[in-house]
Amino acid sequence: MEKLEKLYEGKAKIVFRTSEEGTCWIEYKDDATAFNGEKKGKIAGKGTLNNEISSIFLSLLKEKGVKNHFIKRISSTEQLVRQVEIIPIEVVVRNITAGSLAKRLGWGEGKELPQVLVEFYYKNDELGDPFINNDHIAILGLCSESELGTIRSQALKINEIMKEFLLDKDLILVDFKLEFGKTQGGEIILADEISPDTCRFWDAHTKEKLDKDRFRRDLGNVEGAYQEILKRIGGSVGV
Ligand code: TMP
Repeated sequence: MEKLEKLYEGKAKIVFRTSEEGTCWIEYKDDATAFNGEKKGKIAGKGTLNNEISSIFLSLLKEKGVKNHFIKRISSTEQLVRQVEIIPIEVVVRNITAGSLAKRLGWGEGKELPQVLVEFYYKNDELGDPFINNDHIAILGLCSESELGTIRSQALKINEIMKEFLLDKDLILVDFKLEFGKTQGGEIILADEISPDTCRFWDAHTKEKLDKDRFRRDLGNVEGAYQEILKRIGGSVGV
């Protein structure tokens, strides 16, 4: 298979077309941004770490019956995925208050929620990814009601699988963001990455932050935190 032209470049990844219809080639970058691109930087080794971390999570989910775009990791920073049309909704699942929810509710960080919370944000950089509900999604025509039902139930299933897997590794899954895409056949499947860029992971005992909040909040040792996540979930630390 050959890598062909660039289709899209995002903040953390580049997507290329390939000579095989329906397959894309993704390259993970070390670039990191926060606050809708206002804060910019690089996290040494992030491309390699997130490529492997995301491969592990997406393989686990596939094993547990959650269809997703991941095909295989082909180098330290690259992987092959199924081509999908990304639905412009950022689906956030939360177990514990942190980040924007801590502010929205005024509850501070670290409070366990009485039920799992699923939120939707409109994936639109110009608008700063605003918070939206089912009615906004219908009005914007982002997906159908039944597709949104599939997305919500998949998101809850992913939460259960990941929460259990991570707790066994002494990690708390605080919250995370997912993106879904539509295949050429019209099926909705999980896409994008699952990594410390897109999740909040806390050490179960010390509650130490082991994710991108270390970059967002200038807490230091960002790369070390990503390495720790990879090590705990059984990765080969960047090989
Ligand atoms: P928030 O608390 O800032 O709304 O973030 C919720 C979760 O979503 C958190 O795990 C980080 C992730 N996230 C992204 O993956 N991309 C984003 O652009 C933002 C704002 C959050």
